[in-house]
Amino acid sequence: MKAVIPAAGLGTRLLPITKSQPKEMMPILNKPAIQYVVEEASYGGFDQILIITNRNKKVMEDHFDRNLELRELLTKKGEEEALKKLIKIEELADIYYLRQKEQKGLGDAVLCSEAYVGNEAFAVLLGDDIIISDIPAVKQLWEAHLKVKAPVIALEEVPEDHVERYGIVELGEEVEAGVFKITKIVEKPKKEDAPSRMAVMGRYILDHDIFTWLRSGKTGHGGELQLTDSLANYIDTKGLYGMPVKGLRVDIGSVGDWLKANLQVALLNPELKEKITRYLDELKAEGRL
Ligand code: UTP
Repeated sequence: MKAVIPAAGLGTRLLPITKSQPKEMMPILNKPAIQYVVEEASYGGFDQILIITNRNKKVMEDHFDRNLELRELLTKKGEEEALKKLIKIEELADIYYLRQKEQKGLGDAVLCSEAYVGNEAFAVLLGDDIIISDIPAVKQLWEAHLKVKAPVIALEEVPEDHVERYGIVELGEEVEAGVFKITKIVEKPKKEDAPSRMAVMGRYILDHDIFTWLRSGKTGHGGELQLTDSLANYIDTKGLYGMPVKGLRVDIGSVGDWLKANLQVALLNPELKEKITRYLDELKAEGRL
């Protein structure tokens, strides 16, 4: 099965770190964000992955490539644990890369994958959106897709004052357990115009129809080609479905998000959780918090 990971955005909210390296290579603890996303795709059954990149792509390619020198060194030193980690990354999936020539928006990045995905249904996972879950989020969506036989997107309820940051949907009937028909979708609406607080997360199961709409699509919010605007066309044709996926979602779009993402993931590890708690207690005792 094929997955597409758009990772060509400029990441301007994270400048200057994103001046020469992709936002998707920002570390969440000791793994770059995109590794969590590639692992989710791979463990979810998507072993053919196309990453949409820009001119700063080299470091991303290197990360998933074979590093024979390092393998040899770790073998000689008998560092088996480190070697295992290295091999695991290198053998995750067949990864292909394609450059988005100009950063014209997420819709345009997805459009770059047209020739690669052909006529099959495929998954899109945003490279800066991490979902940690027992069952990979993209697999949860794929299973829903098999039931409804139409495109399915991941949803999450967000606080009212966050609706302006996301694509927001209006939900209709629940057609399968936890899978809802979508009756309306709008990109980054004003609080007062938002049809609900259900936001589109960075996971989608789509099919080739999307490319027709993207190709004829007009630039939308922010002067970019928005994926959300093209998704709206499914509503009046074969239908569009939404599913609140199970898992912890962390975002790295801004400095604050990235810092929080590191804390959220660290708190899942009992040893790190204890260290963080102890450090916070110390800060409190010293009156620095
Ligand atoms: P964002 O909306 O977060 O945009 O992209 P951005 O450009 O990366 O970041 P800012 O707003 O300038 O700080 C969501 C996802 O879509 C990809 C990004 O890499 C990210 O994974 N994207 C966005 C592209 O691949 N190409 C684009 O032209 C825009």
